[in-house]
Amino acid sequence: MNRNNTLAVTKASQLLVTQLGKRLFTTPTFTGSTNSGPFNISQGTTLGTARLLTIHSQKYNTHAPSGSDKKDDTETKAVSSYWGVAPPSHTKADGSAWKWNCFRPWEAYEADTTIDVKKHHNPVTWNDKIAFGIVQALKYPTSLYFKRKHIHHAVLLETVAAVPGMVGGMLLHTKSLRRFEQSGGWIKALLEEAENERMHLMTFIDVYNPKWHERALVFAVQGVFFNAYFLAYLASPKLAHRITGYLEEEAVNSYTEFLNDLEKGVMEDIPAPAIAIDYWCLPQNSTLKDVVRVIRADEAHHRDLNHYASDIQCQGHELKEYPAPIGYH
Ligand SMILES: [Fe+2]
Ligand SMILES: [Fe+2]
Repeated sequence: MNRNNTLAVTKASQLLVTQLGKRLFTTPTFTGSTNSGPFNISQGTTLGTARLLTIHSQKYNTHAPSGSDKKDDTETKAVSSYWGVAPPSHTKADGSAWKWNCFRPWEAYEADTTIDVKKHHNPVTWNDKIAFGIVQALKYPTSLYFKRKHIHHAVLLETVAAVPGMVGGMLLHTKSLRRFEQSGGWIKALLEEAENERMHLMTFIDVYNPKWHERALVFAVQGVFFNAYFLAYLASPKLAHRITGYLEEEAVNSYTEFLNDLEKGVMEDIPAPAIAIDYWCLPQNSTLKDVVRVIRADEAHHRDLNHYASDIQCQGHELKEYPAPIGYH
């Protein structure tokens, strides 16, 4: 390779590293929330949403048209309306404007906090024991790493927890297409679970902004976990659902520890993020404690849903034969 080629390769590598670094580990900020607590580093920042906004603003010019901006007129219309139809504006029950685009008023719900948070599926069969063993093997290094840093733990946990529903939903979706058959609502149930988990993450990043090394860890864990779970679901959906059932049991346990520390005053309680108040229809004076309580209830629901999905298949049936528990929200 001559000197010119070497220089070109070096320049290209530098450009790639710079662009990848920016995309993966930067924290774009926009103000979408009014919350500010002691853990709040960047107000209302959601990496995914902010990245979308960045792309959006690159693609379209969102500023108001002026005389010299006539050529941007078409692009501006594309942003401010949907094929000429003005986007509907939503209001809350008190008449104030709805400020979230990531979810709408009809997606808000009241979590069932009466759900049993101590339920445990006893591992009896080989399928159960393998799933339980995998989750226990994952649990100990995680507990050692985070100890009692509950918010850090929750942020990283939610980035993993939002994967199984999406992978399972996607594979059931493609199966439904391949076999020309209904899914019994299970695609929707699993995608609802994935979305709900992602909203947990969107809530926690309102109170804690992960450090660069935590973002790097999430990147690596996602690469491994997504592919491992994808293969596990292809090979044995009943094993994959059982693994998720046990992962959810551990999520319930870690939120119980989180809640205990908040109740004992080991951790300072702070006002609930605005996004959480609107998503779970919480009272305005709610605190982090209330948020953890509703998230724990969600995790208990995911636990039951996944153990149920595994039970159906362990008994030799297909998921589509039993109606999926949708509409929980
Ligand atoms: Fe979650
Ligand atoms: Fe969950």
